Amino acid sequence: MQLTSKSRFSRLTRRVGTSALALIAVAALDTAASSAQADSSRAASPTAAHRAPTITKDAFGSTAEGPVDRYTLTNGQGVRVRIITFGGIVQTIEVPDRHGRNTNVALGFATLTPYLTNPAYFGALIGRYGNRIALGKFTLDGVTYQLPINNDPNSLHGGTVGFDKHIWAATPFRRGGDVGLVLRLTSPDGDQGYPGTLTVQVTYTLTASNGLRVDYRATTDKATIVNLTNHTYFNLHGEGTGSINDHKLLLNANRYTPVDSTLIPTGTLDPVAGTPMDFTRPTAIGARVRDSFGQLVFGRGYDHNWVVNRHDSTSLVLAARLSDDSSGRVVSMFTDQPGIQFYSGNFLDATLIGTSGHMYREGDGLALETQHYPDSPNHANFPSTVLRPGQVYRTTTVYQFGTEH
Ligand code: GLA
Repeated sequence: MQLTSKSRFSRLTRRVGTSALALIAVAALDTAASSAQADSSRAASPTAAHRAPTITKDAFGSTAEGPVDRYTLTNGQGVRVRIITFGGIVQTIEVPDRHGRNTNVALGFATLTPYLTNPAYFGALIGRYGNRIALGKFTLDGVTYQLPINNDPNSLHGGTVGFDKHIWAATPFRRGGDVGLVLRLTSPDGDQGYPGTLTVQVTYTLTASNGLRVDYRATTDKATIVNLTNHTYFNLHGEGTGSINDHKLLLNANRYTPVDSTLIPTGTLDPVAGTPMDFTRPTAIGARVRDSFGQLVFGRGYDHNWVVNRHDSTSLVLAARLSDDSSGRVVSMFTDQPGIQFYSGNFLDATLIGTSGHMYREGDGLALETQHYPDSPNHANFPSTVLRPGQVYRTTTVYQFGTEH
């Protein structure tokens, strides 16, 4: 793309005309507007395999901050991902099973309204600090900061109005066989009690090889803390089809961070060996989720951070691999982060109705959140989450989809 996508996008919308504005083939930025419409109808077809990647946009309601858009990305290989600009939320991820049949494997909602509260954080970008900070307090350079207590007695996922509750500015792009969306948000100094103006950019890329790559970047004008992640829940049978207890999970982690009864790490890194926390070999989630092991009782199941095995602090390594024997679907997660929270959907309690109209009950989906350890600002022995002016926070996670027979 030579021109900025914004200017070409607005030219395209003028040429396509108002009747087609509900669904605009942004991928056709490189081509004529007439073929843009053709692309968008092909993208909507369930048999869109092995075609050029597309990205389309439609309106998805509005909030007090303004209109919300939904982008639909297809990679021409049968994968289709929908992302909304509110919360940078991944609404759906449609991937083929071993027979090539597509299903949405991400939990979420069909409309914007339930996302405005979204107590389970379905699909959302989480910031400024993913996971819990004890009593919502931390001290940085001698100053103590108080964050909102929204998960009594702690602060969870950035506070009452975290990054999951704002509209992000979106710029679509296409690069070779990949297609993606750059999302930008500026969080002002003092937002939810956190110091410094944080300028955040998250890039979602749907790759030609069926990967969903998420690149996070942030800078600040004052020393602060940051820990960004995405809170997608998976059910590889398909969203709304019941429990994930038969999914097999591998976590590339010999240790985890045990927690107290409020799910705050005690500060030690304990071995998983000999406990129900051991996922170093693929193990069905349901095999031990009802075990009376004290940590599982605290979490009502799995709701813990695992310490990813790695030789250095920067390379992308396999953190988790989730598979479903019945469909053959597999997702492998690669990250440069030191930890991964595995949450087995313990608080889903039939009060939320999902995208396909089914209620979600306990264990109907699981989240795998790549991250720094919870409550790191209060644990000097954990990798640091401090970001200072002049430094650039960068992290990458890749969800690689595939099938096995
Ligand atoms: C995170 C937390 C869980 C829960 C979910 C949202 O994964 O660790 O305890 O709060 O978010 O329901």
